[in-house]
Amino acid sequence: MRVVMIGPPGAGKGTQARLLQERFGVPQISTGDMLRDAECRDTPLGREAHRFMSAGQLVPDEVVIGVVEERLQCPDASRGFILDGFPRTLAQARALEAMLERRGVVLTGVVEILVPQEELVRRLSGRLVCRGCGAMYHRDSNPSPAGAACGKCGGELYQRDDDRPAQIQARLTNLAREIAPVIGFYRASGLLRPVDGLGTVEDVFARITTGLG
Ligand code: AP5
Repeated sequence: MRVVMIGPPGAGKGTQARLLQERFGVPQISTGDMLRDAECRDTPLGREAHRFMSAGQLVPDEVVIGVVEERLQCPDASRGFILDGFPRTLAQARALEAMLERRGVVLTGVVEILVPQEELVRRLSGRLVCRGCGAMYHRDSNPSPAGAACGKCGGELYQRDDDRPAQIQARLTNLAREIAPVIGFYRASGLLRPVDGLGTVEDVFARITTGLG
């Protein structure tokens, strides 16, 4: 299975990609997680990414494409992958196509998760993430059973820097402009699988697996 997850910030790409990873045994490859990890370790990549991420802007194509190309060469990606948050621009979509062509493989499908803007803002402004295992919660609608700690591993929960109101607004505005050509690209190739992202996580997952056939 080789799947791309597309959708605005807060659509549930990460949540659903993790479920697909568990169900199908292929790795979730999240460009956002990889860039945040580099930021956290204060590597040269992390320092460069930080300038863009903290302003709610996209990291330059050549940087992200290089990160993904390297990750796809890891042995665990040889049987498939769930790309979460990549590609986000037409240049990235074309670069991915070239990478897959070189390996002689094709995408299974591109899942586009659709969620209205006011629900995106609600989800992002209440999101809490575990520093230990990456589990995700929502302050009101999906609180951790362990209170301020993660219900799965006991790790510390934190709010992402880009989940503050000004950054959320910038991300939503920028993404809408940047992602439209990518959606057009995959629609034209017949790979696009639009999915209603409202409802429970389980409802959305069922729609995605049905859409991927
Ligand atoms: P990234 O980490 O990819 O963030 P994003 O696209 O902004 O998406 P999010 O992670 O915010 O949301 P999501 O759709 O994964 O939703 P989630 O499952 O978490 O990117 C961050 C930054 O990195 C970018 O702004 C950019 O700077 C840079 N970057 C990354 N990739 C790049 C690229 N390719 N090119 C250039 N720059 C790049 O869910 C959100 C919340 O909703 C959670 O609290 C969750 O519990 C809840 N939720 C999920 N599903 C449901 C549901 N069905 N009902 C109710 N609540 C739900």
